[in-house]
Amino acid sequence: MSEQAVLEQAVLDQAGRRRTFAVISHPDAGKSTLTEALALHARVIGQAGAVHGKAGRRGTVSDWMEMERDRGISITSAALQFEYGPAGGDKAVINLLDTPGHADFSEDTYRVLTAVDAAVMLVDAAKGLEAQTMKLFAVCKHRGIPVITVVNKWDRPGMDALALMDEIADRTGLTPTPLTWPVGIAGDFRGVLDRRDGSYRHFTRTAGGATIAPEEVFTAEQALDREGEAWATAVEESELLAETGQVHDQELFLAHATTPVLFASAVSNFGVGQLLDVLVTMAPPPADRPDVEGKPHPIDAPFSGFVFKVQAGMDTGHRDRLAYIRVCSGVFERGMVVTNARTGRPFATKYAQQVLGRERETIETAYPGDVVGLVNAASLGIGDTLYADHAVSYPPVTTFAPEHFAVVRTADTSKYKQFRKGIDTLGGEGVVQVLVSERRGDGAPIFAVVGPMQFEVAAHRMEHEFGARISLENLPYQIARITDAESAPELAKARDVEVMTRADGELLALFTNKWALGVLERNNPHLTLTPMVAAQ
Ligand code: G4P
Repeated sequence: MSEQAVLEQAVLDQAGRRRTFAVISHPDAGKSTLTEALALHARVIGQAGAVHGKAGRRGTVSDWMEMERDRGISITSAALQFEYGPAGGDKAVINLLDTPGHADFSEDTYRVLTAVDAAVMLVDAAKGLEAQTMKLFAVCKHRGIPVITVVNKWDRPGMDALALMDEIADRTGLTPTPLTWPVGIAGDFRGVLDRRDGSYRHFTRTAGGATIAPEEVFTAEQALDREGEAWATAVEESELLAETGQVHDQELFLAHATTPVLFASAVSNFGVGQLLDVLVTMAPPPADRPDVEGKPHPIDAPFSGFVFKVQAGMDTGHRDRLAYIRVCSGVFERGMVVTNARTGRPFATKYAQQVLGRERETIETAYPGDVVGLVNAASLGIGDTLYADHAVSYPPVTTFAPEHFAVVRTADTSKYKQFRKGIDTLGGEGVVQVLVSERRGDGAPIFAVVGPMQFEVAAHRMEHEFGARISLENLPYQIARITDAESAPELAKARDVEVMTRADGELLALFTNKWALGVLERNNPHLTLTPMVAAQ
């Protein structure tokens, strides 16, 4: 084999070991708890609880930082990487990408979903499908991401399992294909019937779920002896599911027609090892990624990747910018000089992953599916493609339709420089979209956001990070449409419409409500008013 062929084979082998996914859910379904439990199962964390406490949880960066400090695992603030597999056997490399918890940051979550190959959807056993669950299912469907559903908190009273499956089927359009089925109703969680081999996996509680819950496996006969009626019911219900075709089929799962389901209690660590096994055996490894023209870019081509997240540096000393890249093809090697497809400019990756300021976190090599953090990334924006040798452009990462708008002013005019820097940084990171309106003589920027909590985050960071306190004046607009230079002058003259320019040069027409937009569209069919992707 030529040297080139050996290298390509190594990339294929490494990519094949990788599983890159995110845990997503409506807030409070147990995402942080499950993340912690997953890491525990991979034995990178000796005892769960290291990241316990609500306060720290919301700031996902601090979650990761605390975890890696305590346990010496490799974490960027965007991803947790660990090996998982049988002792002595081939191990899979798991990349668990972090997503923010609050619904107002759904835009961030959607961006993370551009960088994964599969998603784990957590559903609260008592609450069933909630608002954010539905939106996230829709986004996964739109992006063609296979979803593994985990019904969590089965240790607490909740819905009937069959009713829950019906709800999933009716409301998401996906056929749920449970891999395990609970023995005992919600609140009386005894274990699960493993539908793949008919065995009984008995659930043993440990004190506070602090260690890996020992899992005992019994045969069907033993299970009937132990659990009696509860086991018989589980078997009956499982047969019912089989009759309606609710049995796992790998092709249908990958085609996003079905969703395998597991039952778990993340807080007790039950079902977590099963989830990891399912990820390794069923979730797809990284594959050729379609470029901007829809043509698959070979995974064994030279290095390429795209920026899915940009963040201010965590080092308070120098506020640099970090860009997180999902590797799509080839081998990333620290120090390589790559090209930014958008600008055609070179980018030196010398400081890949000094992000964490500790030597073991410096990433030397990364393969498809991995996440690399690049520092000094001021020239990189969300969606930018980086490549070495073989030119490629991946599709841009969608920006979502903003629904809240506010004029931003500095509260202290002597801080104008800091103010400008802060606005540019927050816009560049995608914390807010930054617009300017010619109509407003003072040139004050406008923040446009999907959820109002983004305003709070932006204001807080302007004050504490850039030393520029701001005031925000809400504008009455609720809807934005993309327009163009031909339509803009006419739109600008219309009543209750304002045209603004976004930092990336895109023209946005803002409307106070859908009726105003509807009337204008009806009367002026020649105007360009393209809907943006709605986050709601
Ligand atoms: P999130 O990241 O999705 O928002 O959820 P998080 O893990 O913070 O969990 C939300 C609450 O649900 C937490 O309780 C957590 O302990 C609890 N929880 C998570 N998984 C399970 C489970 O399997 N069973 C049960 N019974 N509870 C679970 P909290 O009281 O809000 O916080 P805390 O005091 O436990 O930290």
